[in-house]
Parts: sequence; C-alpha cells; structure tokens
Amino acid sequence: MAILLTGGAGFIGSHTAVACLNASVDVVLADNFSNSSPKVLDRIEKITGKRPALYNVDVCDKRALRDIFAERFITGVIHFAGLKAVGESVRLPLAYYRNNLDSCLSVLEVMQEFGCKEFVFSSSATVYGDQPAPLTESADTGHCSNPYGWTKFMIEQILKDAAKANPELHVVLLRYFNPIGAHESGLIGENPNGIPNNLMPYITQVAVGKLKQLTIFGDSYDTPDGTGVRDYIHVMDLAEGHLAALGYAEAHAGCEVFNLGTGKGVSVLEMVNTFSSVNGVEVPYIIGERRAGDLATVYADPAKAEQILGWHAKRTVADMCRDSWNWQKNNPNGYDG
Ligand code: UFG
Repeated sequence: MAILLTGGAGFIGSHTAVACLNASVDVVLADNFSNSSPKVLDRIEKITGKRPALYNVDVCDKRALRDIFAERFITGVIHFAGLKAVGESVRLPLAYYRNNLDSCLSVLEVMQEFGCKEFVFSSSATVYGDQPAPLTESADTGHCSNPYGWTKFMIEQILKDAAKANPELHVVLLRYFNPIGAHESGLIGENPNGIPNNLMPYITQVAVGKLKQLTIFGDSYDTPDGTGVRDYIHVMDLAEGHLAALGYAEAHAGCEVFNLGTGKGVSVLEMVNTFSSVNGVEVPYIIGERRAGDLATVYADPAKAEQILGWHAKRTVADMCRDSWNWQKNNPNGYDG
C-alpha cells in the first residue's frame, strides 16, 4: 500500500516524501524532472533509510499512470505536479492550462479506473487574490491575476464537482501560503531552474555569491516598513500538513479545503534582516520598482487546519532562514553539487 506523489521529486514533493517515510507511510514518486532532479532519491534515502520507487513519467500520460497503478497498490494521491511560475504563465498561458488541467484530469480518471479514492491537491493562496488578511477558507476565490492562479482555481472547481458527483471520493484542497526552508539535514531543498522568481531562493543565491544583489520590489506599500508582507511557512511544516490531510482524507468523503500557513505576516525587509542575523551573512539589496501583480499583504487564518486536522506550523522564521541557508551553502548548484 502506498501513496502516489505526483511531482514527488520537486521541492514540496520531496519534503513530503521524507515526512511520509518517517511516519511509516509508504510512497511512490512520479516526476518528469521538468523542474527537479532524479538525484533527490539518493538524498531521500540518506535521510530516511528508505528508497521509494521513482517513475520518470509525465502524469498527463494516462498509459504511463496506469502502469504505476497496475504495479503498485496506490491507496491515495497527493498531486503536486504542475507548472508554477507566475510570470511564465502570463507568457505561456496555453502550456499552463494544458499541463496543469490535463495532469489533474488524467490522474483523477486513472484513479477512478483503479478504485483509488483519496486525493490531496496542492492549491495556493493565490486563489484568494486581493482581499484583506487574515484569509479564511470561506473568503471568496476566483480573483486570480495570472493563468497559473486560474489553473489552481479551475482545478479546485473540478475537484469540488468530482466529489459532488462521486460520493466515494475523498478530496482535500490545501491552499499553501509561501513555502520556504529546507529539511534540517541540508540534503534536500529548493532548486529552481535559472534565476529564481521567489524571495528566499533569490536571497540564498545572493548570499552564496551566485547573484550580485537582491532587488526588493517596492518599499511604498501600506505595510509597517513599506515592503510586501507574506505568510512564509517552513516546507517541513507544510510536509507534515500533508500527512495530516492524508489522515483526514482517509476518514472523510467529500471535498474539504484548508489553508496551510502560519498566520503571521513577515515583510521582505524583516526576512532579509533575519536571514543576515541568523546566518551571519550579508545580503546586499537595492529597492526597485513594484513587481506587476504583487499584493501588499497576504497571510492566512490557519485556525481551521488546527481545529480539524490538529496541525499547526511549528517552525520559526529563524528556522526557515537557517535551513534555507544550510541547504544552499552545502549545495551551491543544487543537486549537481
Ligand atoms: N520579492 C522581492 N524581490 C524578489 C522576489 C520577491 O522583493 O526578488 C518580494 C515580493 O515582491 C513579495 C515577496 O517578496 O512581496 C514574496 O515574493 P515571492 O515571489 O517569493 O512569493 P509571492 O507571494 O509573490 O508568490 C507565492 C508563490 C506563488 C503563489 C503565491 C500565493 O510563488 O506561486 O505565493 O500567494 F501563488
């Protein structure tokens, strides 16, 4: 019996694999390595002492998926696989809609063929768009500002409809806030292709000397120090949130949605300063223009996950900074050394 992690070699997938294996939940990984490396498997084995099966497949490919379901007894799926770069989605909307919707539909159809009922989906706080924080799960959705966000919104709708039509389906939608950090071993972490779009990998690449300086995208927002405020969550807390969600999905039919965040807003400047002081490294920065589509303040109300899943984020911003740096400094070129 195993849980299939699509996109299981990626940043959140690999950390969730570790959390599952450490909790004696067997996993099978499926990934096409479009934004990940098969080398992550050795690292997962080093951390957990277990080497899960890893299939090199595109999960849009139903035939390849069927082979996995035929070879393994898959009792549930956590669907991480998907394209996730906001700016790229504006340039390549068709690729985003095709890939993200198709992969989810393929997985759901093959699950149905094999009688597999539990499905946990990687959604995003981006579905809330521009609304006052803290965001509860009952806040309006569908105010996305880019195709990436719309794919998350549309897949949520597909899953709600699928669960309504099939009372045997057990679906959990997880709306992530801003996952950063790395496993405390420093053996696995975030390894973006090219120049990072997101704040923490940009900071760590400046700190390690690969990039010259950070550009802070605006300091005139209506926030305490003028820079953008987000709800950063340690990726191992997030991974443990998936385990809690799997437990919930096992016991509950229907479709339920949970925020996975800390409930605390942290500004860009606070993050840069915490990173420097915790790790004793300088992060040179300049203040630049606002980035198109950015919001001033986004953070979660995480109470529902605490009440119903019994899960809350435990790790601090200092932990996130320490672990992100530990990963980056030991692996300046990601899984290639
Ligand atoms: N930022 C900078 N400089 C950078 C990168 C980011 O100042 O080089 C700032 C942004 O302006 C923002 C904050 O750092 O204020 C966080 O930016 P990220 O790009 O790290 O994250 P976002 O909040 O923009 O987006 C993230 C995910 C999306 C997801 C969204 C959900 O990347 O996939 O959270 O709220 F949709």
